[in-house]
Amino acid sequence: MQRDSDAAVAPAGDDGPARAVTGEPVLQIRDLVKHYPLTRGIVFRKQIGAVKAVDGVSFDLHKGETLGIVGESGCGKSTVAKMLVGLERPTSGQIRYQGEDITRLSGRALKAVRRNIQMVFQDPYTSLNPRMTVGDIIGEPYQIHPEVAPKGDRRKKVQDLLDVVGLNPEYINRYPHQFSGGQRQRIGIARGLALRPEVIVADEPVSALDVSVQAQVVNLLERLQDEFDLSYVFIAHDLSVVRHISDRIAVMYLGRLAEIGTDEQIYEHATHPYTQALLSAVPVPDPEARERRGRILLAGDLPSPADPPSGCRFRTRCWKAQEVCARKVPPIDVPEWFRGTGSPAEHASACHFAEERAGVTDG
Ligand SMILES: Nc1ncnc2c1ncn2[C@@H]1O[C@H](COP(=O)(O)OP(=O)(O)OP(=O)(O)O)[C@@H](O)[C@H]1O
Ligand code: SF4
Ligand SMILES: [Mg+2]
Repeated sequence: MQRDSDAAVAPAGDDGPARAVTGEPVLQIRDLVKHYPLTRGIVFRKQIGAVKAVDGVSFDLHKGETLGIVGESGCGKSTVAKMLVGLERPTSGQIRYQGEDITRLSGRALKAVRRNIQMVFQDPYTSLNPRMTVGDIIGEPYQIHPEVAPKGDRRKKVQDLLDVVGLNPEYINRYPHQFSGGQRQRIGIARGLALRPEVIVADEPVSALDVSVQAQVVNLLERLQDEFDLSYVFIAHDLSVVRHISDRIAVMYLGRLAEIGTDEQIYEHATHPYTQALLSAVPVPDPEARERRGRILLAGDLPSPADPPSGCRFRTRCWKAQEVCARKVPPIDVPEWFRGTGSPAEHASACHFAEERAGVTDG
């Protein structure tokens, strides 16, 4: 029985109804930092600097919502993801789960919390062990958490999970190479669901898939979200993919957040120049709308996270940069001049001169 894996699905560009963000925060991320030391010397290792992969990121993830995180390659998206699921230890900052800072937990307490925050990886070709059967892959988390599924129940649980993600439960003894890319990602999702987590961090879960399969996997994730009451952190390069699935979107640049808001605030009323540049690159079918919007071409390359610009990190590529931008770090906050206006531009943006693009000259 091949359930919906090959069925028709809503197009990726279709912006489904956004869920209202009313739930309690499940995760509260505060000033999260990850610096990787840069060392020299083989015998006497000396630290000569640090790659500031993530450098002070804060956001909440609410119950039942999907928070999309977008940004250029190297801006720190995967590093945030790895810290959330415990694959990397933060240099500093807090990850509060149900109010408790889990970066301070260890041993049994940490293990119990970790069960609730699971990851789905980008590449379904390399993230599944080719020598393990699908049943062993999906059931692997039960070896670490036997309390979730006693040994006698595991086969049945894995078969149920296969069914839930739209794969034939009889495939349980097959190996990853016997599946297509989209099917492998379904296996990865089933593994992520095995422990019945509350939060799933999906790091570019569809980037490695053909465009035609991407929408199917996104639709599956949406269905599972409703069925299992999940909250998602959904990481992507592509603004059109996150729009379809996200209730809110956070835009990252060089280890920090540039802007965060609901999908309407970000897509229709972005106030940060970096977001505006990213949006100008998203294809739109209507030639008139394309003409009106104009394309912003960013000057220069992404600076090195080992030596980021002072003040606003985006200033070396920003057409609006002023002297203050080199001196003062713009906080990620609702700009004073939008507060209380009720305007859709009233959302957090880390820019000294945050404004909607109508007042900006297209470059
Ligand atoms: N283990 C590590 N040691 C040193 N530097 C690292 C390590 N892991 C990541 N980095 C660096 O940290 C920065 C952020 O990397 P990260 O993988 O989080 O970016 P990303 O936004 O996920 O990029 P992509 O879109 O390419 O996946 C990059 O400059 C990267 O080279
Ligand atoms: S703070 Fe300055 S440099 Fe940074 S995005 Fe705003 S205008 Fe550009
Ligand atoms: Mg990444």
